[in-house]
Amino acid sequence: MKRDRARGLPWALVGIAVLACVARQPASAEQAAVNYDESLVPAYTLPDPLLCQDGTVVRDADTWRNKRRPELLALFAGEMYGKSPGRPADMTFHVRSTEENALGGAAVRKEIVVYFSSAKETGPKMDVLLYLPKQARRPVPVFLGLNFFGNHTIHADPGITLSKSWMRDNPGKGVVNHQATEASRGTSAGRWPVELILSRGYGLATIYYGDLDPDFDDGFQNGVHPLFYKEGQTRPAPDEWGSIGAWAWGLSRAMDYLETDPDVDAGKVAVLGHSRLGKTALWAGAQDERFAIVISNDSGCGGAALSRRRFGETVARINAAFPHWFCENFKKYGDREDELPFDQHELIALIAPRPVYVASASEDLWADPKGEFLAAKAASPVYQLLGKDGLPADEMPPPDHPVMGTIGYHVRTGKHDLTEYDWRCYLDFADKHFFRSGQ
Ligand code: GCU
Repeated sequence: MKRDRARGLPWALVGIAVLACVARQPASAEQAAVNYDESLVPAYTLPDPLLCQDGTVVRDADTWRNKRRPELLALFAGEMYGKSPGRPADMTFHVRSTEENALGGAAVRKEIVVYFSSAKETGPKMDVLLYLPKQARRPVPVFLGLNFFGNHTIHADPGITLSKSWMRDNPGKGVVNHQATEASRGTSAGRWPVELILSRGYGLATIYYGDLDPDFDDGFQNGVHPLFYKEGQTRPAPDEWGSIGAWAWGLSRAMDYLETDPDVDAGKVAVLGHSRLGKTALWAGAQDERFAIVISNDSGCGGAALSRRRFGETVARINAAFPHWFCENFKKYGDREDELPFDQHELIALIAPRPVYVASASEDLWADPKGEFLAAKAASPVYQLLGKDGLPADEMPPPDHPVMGTIGYHVRTGKHDLTEYDWRCYLDFADKHFFRSGQ
């Protein structure tokens, strides 16, 4: 159905529509104006994370753990991200290379191929790139995150294997005919301050997200989905995983590997992601309790931002632009946010009592910084029930003033991006929780 709600609306709204056109995700002519006006956020009531569907009030950790948490997890799976399979029985790890003196002697670099089936090279697989600080005591804590353009883009290090996976064409990133070229080496280095991370005593593990599922809508014929189709099945059922589910699943498979690597402290793995991969990190962290810290960088709609605020990107828009990201069931909530049986503060609450960090950027209105802050804040009652402090801020902090409780939050000055400033905050947060609070 085509809609043109801008027609006949006051000039203020037309202005908002114009703003939408210059926002980073251009509005389609078929959709209503994007709202960037706080005064136009509709009244809404957030679901109570401590109220079960049958009316039981959660008053203790046991009821959270054994009743409400599983109930919420099942709701997010069945209605939003889709249910995911577990670890494949015939998955294997192959250490492709180890370089003891990478980055001028600052790092050990390993590359690991994770084969998801016994078909090995001819089946779905992912390449894990792992840097470890050369000088640190082992085992080390590790940041794990998916990348957008291939492992070889996170650093100019010529020893990183050039990805052979499908990629969206991007001449600026050296991607031609859907393949990476030598010119793409290091093109995303600005988002991955490898030397800084290593100098702080952390390792870094990363995977190209397209290894798990290429990011376009092909009816789930490529990527890892077909590996799990039942006899006669050709696409996921309405409550089964979409692409975000598959990317999150890949993070858990990387964790399976990290648990086997003696150089890694698998009890101290922080999973992080930017934007769509921030949504992915939250979903991975909600499901997989092996992730000790979860970090969402500018994840926005479908990530840390409250859906009910309908500020910036909305459920209808995200489903229209990216029909493959969520499960089919999620589509029914477009323009019906109040019918969602949860909101995104409860995704964050699923991470409790583990530390979680939500970050926004001041110019990133599409991702609704305030909605991200409010979600982080509204997850706090679950943390408090479990004996933690949640987010110790009543108001949204000013730009560049991180707040760090068991929930952390900052809004960085600037655009939608993952910057060194963000990383410094995450490193401080990890130091605080891994080394200074006895966790
Ligand atoms: C688009 C999309 C966002 C997403 C972002 C990204 O802007 O609308 O939901 O977070 O892409 O992943 O960069």
